[in-house]
Amino acid sequence: MRMRKKKNGAKRMEACSEILIKEPENNKGKWKEFAENKEISIEIGCGKGRFILENAKRNPEKLYIGFEKVPDVIVLAMEKVKNDELKNVYFICDDASRLCEIFDENEIDEIYLNFSDPWPKKRHAKRRLTFISFLEIYKKIIKDGGKIFFKTDNRPLFDFSLEQFEKAEIEVSDVCYDLHNSEYEKDNIHTEYEDNFSAKGFSINRLVGKVKKA
Ligand SMILES: C[S@@+](CC[C@H](N)C(=O)[O-])C[C@H]1O[C@@H](n2cnc3c(N)ncnc32)[C@H](O)[C@@H]1O
Repeated sequence: MRMRKKKNGAKRMEACSEILIKEPENNKGKWKEFAENKEISIEIGCGKGRFILENAKRNPEKLYIGFEKVPDVIVLAMEKVKNDELKNVYFICDDASRLCEIFDENEIDEIYLNFSDPWPKKRHAKRRLTFISFLEIYKKIIKDGGKIFFKTDNRPLFDFSLEQFEKAEIEVSDVCYDLHNSEYEKDNIHTEYEDNFSAKGFSINRLVGKVKKA
């Protein structure tokens, strides 16, 4: 997501400091304690935060972590959560490649990947958040039976991701190529990108991966 640099970006981040986890690696192995034993759900690439905000409102018994690498984007999500005075959402501003340094094995219950950057060039495939090396990271930090929810308008990325999930031996279910006209739509929370692409006529693909540990 390209964004013009936000005026007063640092100040605005600081104003949300109580929900920004600045040194997340210090919580490694202690996230359940931090979450007071609530289930922990992460959205990787949470963007401007509409999805995580609504998900957290619907499920106050869970703890949500918005994970996003771009400060000028995450600040918009944090401001939304702060304005709504939600108490079950926190944020980490970092790159997904560092997830294993931040979370220990089995610490996470579920992961959401919504409209991840497609990186269409073959030579950039490793940057896709559903590339096998990322799936292997998610498999480590997610508990046995934990789930990965993935949706995208980008059909080539979706087909590639189906192959990667199979390679990573993550069981896939609820595969759907037109989410908005499916049985899953009634519980579906639309993201900013989702509405944008759907308005342009793209259908939305969706799958659920279930992590099984030997
Ligand atoms: C296309 S946007 C989608 C945003 C939002 N999920 C939505 O559906 O509206 C992808 C987001 O993922 C973030 N992102 C991409 N790669 C990332 C990474 N390796 N680690 C953390 N965030 C990442 C980008 O900065 C961007 O905000």
